[in-house]
Amino acid sequence: MGEMLEQAVRTALRSVRDPVTGQDVVSAGMVDGLAVKAGMVQFAIQVPRERARESEPLRAAAERAAAAVPGVLSATVVLTAHRAPPAGGSGGEAAPHAHGPAPGAKPPPGQGPMLLPEVGAIIAVASGKGGVGKSTTAVNLAVALAMQGQRVGLLDADIYGPSLPQMLGTHERPRAEGSRIIPLSRWGLKAMSIGFLVEQETPMIWRGPMVMGALEQLMGQVAWGPLDIMVVDMPPGTGDAQLTMSQRVPLAGAVIVSTPQDVALIDARRGVRMFEKVNVPVLGLIENMSFFCCPNCGHRTDIFGHGGAQAEAARLGVEFLGDLPLKLAIRELADAGTPIVAARPDSEEAAAYQRIATRLRAKLAERAGAGPKIVID
Ligand SMILES: Nc1ncnc2c1ncn2[C@@H]1O[C@H](COP(=O)(O)OP(=O)(O)OP(=O)(O)O)[C@@H](O)[C@H]1O
Ligand SMILES: [Mg+2]
Repeated sequence: MGEMLEQAVRTALRSVRDPVTGQDVVSAGMVDGLAVKAGMVQFAIQVPRERARESEPLRAAAERAAAAVPGVLSATVVLTAHRAPPAGGSGGEAAPHAHGPAPGAKPPPGQGPMLLPEVGAIIAVASGKGGVGKSTTAVNLAVALAMQGQRVGLLDADIYGPSLPQMLGTHERPRAEGSRIIPLSRWGLKAMSIGFLVEQETPMIWRGPMVMGALEQLMGQVAWGPLDIMVVDMPPGTGDAQLTMSQRVPLAGAVIVSTPQDVALIDARRGVRMFEKVNVPVLGLIENMSFFCCPNCGHRTDIFGHGGAQAEAARLGVEFLGDLPLKLAIRELADAGTPIVAARPDSEEAAAYQRIATRLRAKLAERAGAGPKIVID
């Protein structure tokens, strides 16, 4: 059934022509990663990088054609800017197209002009392990920074499991202006997530290159405008998204979130090493779910043995940026789409996020000050 539908989609896509070559997108080898599951269709249209901006109508036409096939419930198509296959890699699928101008040498995989030139500092919120509270921390820190008067962007780099629609409490569709996507405005910040662009139920069957392509689009094709700080909510682990970020944007640094248990700290160590390997400075470590505060009596219990991250930070030679309590309200408000920093700005938890935000800004200012200064007489 799935196979027949996939064939029918391919047939339908033969009616979609690339305006530049006049060839249909299937024959031109532009359709990548076509996946059909329970009537939901996903694929990418690969275009040469220099044509990425003007190819939105082609993407939309391919999506319409796929969606019109009887039996297809939804179709999601993304544009990916193709690049030459990695040397010694599997090759084939990303073979360079014969058409289109090729000014200069092709950038190596995952490289090219740096994205987000109008952003002052880009900070990756990461961990070596899933579920430690990266997204919750990223959202609340971003809101705290915005409340401190910064122009803040929040980018959800988790293509497989985006969190922002829920944590920001919106499933609004972003508008497009020409070929640029307008980020959503929420809680004083600009936000973008693949979750705003595709249906929530759509299974995310992306492969590595598609993750890179989608993430690059979220940076390069979104009209972020000038920002002081962009907070990037990283996916768990040490995969493609981490590589893309370290190669395609000038990261000011990474903030590693960890819980105090030993196992999580081992993973934090892995997270720190990963960024060191790609020459991204680690700005510091945050201990999340550090201690438990009883919602009834306020009594504090160090469930996991509080303070592990602080000791670990000292061992690794990175700064300890602060700890955050394990608090029911943090989870409830995050799930409800109203980050605690915005919903209860006077709470102790909000103050803890604000303190870390202040420290981060100071840290960024120190680093900026440490760079080469240009003196004009
Ligand atoms: N300090 C906290 N107090 C209470 N609950 C928290 C706290 N931090 C995070 N949580 C909850 O823990 C769960 C996991 O958090 P979150 O989604 O932020 O983790 P993550 O590291 O981003 O996960 P993933 O690796 O899947 O992206 C969520 O339900 C969140 O509400
Ligand atoms: Mg997350």
